[in-house]
Amino acid sequence: MKITQCSAKEIFDSRGVPTIEVKLFSGDISVVAGVPSGKSTGSKEALEKRDSDGRGITKAIASVEDVISPEIIGKNVTPDVVDRLLLELDGTENKSNLGANAILGVSIAVTKLAAAVEGVPVWKFIADTNSANARLPKLFMNIINGGAHSDFQPNSEAGRFRLPFQEYMIVPKDELVSVSYKKAQKIINILGVRLKERFGEVPLGDEGGYSPVFESVEEPFALLDDIISGEDMFLAIDAAATEFYKDGKYNLLNKEYSSLELLGLYKKLTEEFELLSIEDPFEESDAESFSNLVGGVSGGVLVVGDDLTVTNPSLITEMAEKKAANAVIIKPNQIGTLLEVYEAVTLAHGYGWKTIASHRSGETLDTFISDLAVGVGAYGIKAGSPLQKEREVKYHRLLEIEQEFKKYN
Ligand code: PGA
Ligand code: ZN
Repeated sequence: MKITQCSAKEIFDSRGVPTIEVKLFSGDISVVAGVPSGKSTGSKEALEKRDSDGRGITKAIASVEDVISPEIIGKNVTPDVVDRLLLELDGTENKSNLGANAILGVSIAVTKLAAAVEGVPVWKFIADTNSANARLPKLFMNIINGGAHSDFQPNSEAGRFRLPFQEYMIVPKDELVSVSYKKAQKIINILGVRLKERFGEVPLGDEGGYSPVFESVEEPFALLDDIISGEDMFLAIDAAATEFYKDGKYNLLNKEYSSLELLGLYKKLTEEFELLSIEDPFEESDAESFSNLVGGVSGGVLVVGDDLTVTNPSLITEMAEKKAANAVIIKPNQIGTLLEVYEAVTLAHGYGWKTIASHRSGETLDTFISDLAVGVGAYGIKAGSPLQKEREVKYHRLLEIEQEFKKYN
């Protein structure tokens, strides 16, 4: 089966910002792939092509329609071959030529098309082509949004502060998505009621979680800990620490912390609360503090690289050698092709790291990330709070996959 048509168009992400959607055909069979976009991006991420206004994506659309399309039309629907061709056509380390958004749109679309042509679910196609053990991921559900994802909140007002950490997540311990999802929904409801009682209407942040302002670093943890008691859940955070780091210091609620003091705070938090993981605990170039945390927290706590590793196989290797993490976020648009995503996952698993597939803060209604998480056998998935449509569809896809799983396993 050959690729017969390829086009791209502008759609809008969950923040109302333009992004790219790629459409591919093989005969009568067609698929679309929407590309997400991050806000608290790592400096070593592959480049997202935007127009000179920093917003438009006509250049990325041109990459697909003028450069990529003529090269892939007539080629077999073979994802790894097409991905290699995309890498060759771009020819740069960080995809600055064609743009990682253009490249990823095509890469995901070709994989979806290959699965559709074979008549199997996308997760199944991914698992088979990678000889991976497909599994249902744990839900790392971000239900309180802080940092850059609640930047509409004042940094400090009347003794209350925008939350320093970007994501406060709950992680149900159950194996089945259907069970975890129901439990998580219940917690979100209770959280909503409790916040409303205390603050009135609380706005939602970029990933659909509540964005309250609190008086202390511990408050959101204590509140969530109270709500999940007896529910068999962990808490988890994405500190996204590069965002509150400046001139050698970390600023949390108008108080400065050295990296050593911040390390002490994380240790205290892991002792006080059942924290499963801490993502990007320090700014992205401070691998030494990351490894101090890996060595400093009790066994079982995951130190997760995101801006640290940016789904880049060579950075994952470098950080594994430095023992700077023991788990890693997998975001396809940080690197650009699925071929490289699979390499990143395989390496990470080889180092004994856990992998967590993740959406971006600017999301579309595309549900590919759910299939990817299952197909590569990721330990977890980050897909935000289902109070926002672009996140909810990812959970609905996981629920569907749970049913499909029965047929194939
Ligand atoms: P981003 O945030 O998509 O805005 O980069 C998500 C994250 O840091 O995990
Ligand atoms: Zn992150």
